[in-house]
Amino acid sequence: MVTTLHETGSTNDWLLERAPDLPDGQWLRAQWQTAGRGRRGRAWVPVPGNLYASVLVKPRPGEGPPQQLSFVAALALGDAAARWVAAERLALKWPNDLLLDGVKVAGILLEGAGDALVIGFGVNLAGAPEGLERPATSFAAAGPVPDADAFVAVLESAFAQWRARWAAQGFDAVRSAWLARAAGLGEIIKVRLGERELDGVFAGLAADGALELRQGCETRLIHAGEVFGIGEGG
Ligand code: BTN
Repeated sequence: MVTTLHETGSTNDWLLERAPDLPDGQWLRAQWQTAGRGRRGRAWVPVPGNLYASVLVKPRPGEGPPQQLSFVAALALGDAAARWVAAERLALKWPNDLLLDGVKVAGILLEGAGDALVIGFGVNLAGAPEGLERPATSFAAAGPVPDADAFVAVLESAFAQWRARWAAQGFDAVRSAWLARAAGLGEIIKVRLGERELDGVFAGLAADGALELRQGCETRLIHAGEVFGIGEGG
């Protein structure tokens, strides 16, 4: 079930603050966020008509490590997006961005609250914020604007399906599905780790979700970092 608020600071915060009292699978959508957060401490700038939604996840028996949910969430987001644009125009970028025609159109932020996890989805349905460090696009730029209520309903159902598949078939099923939609697989990419930048071939995804970066005969595992050189402007 999706609860919708007119406005809140951050849908992630709203669920994190109430996590002990809310059930697993509780969704929250806000029509506007006043303090939306992106990854790496960045602000997530609101644009009217875009989607700001989060889901509370409480681990169930038989599920894998919670960090794998990042890929479960990205697959669900890709499935939802494919209701509105052709799947060939969409790709997933490590760790959990959605690209439309090679440019970021949506992002995911996972945050923990004790045993629980909140997964927040920011989707540029109606417009992309201006003046960002890196380019972004929107569904509006590609065709008709999806309705946020309809989008979150499809996303809720896609997430439940991918979560069930992850529990039943394990991370291998999720990893291979994610890799089949991954942008830049087998290509040379740049990874920024703090002040350092590494070049290498994006060779795959490790069992814990780390990016495998091949440099000559060596393969490095990247657990956290920013990837460049995938899609237009990364
Ligand atoms: C990213 O940096 O790509 C992740 C962006 C995640 C933004 C969403 S909007 C809904 C939820 N609430 C937040 O404060 N952030 C996430």
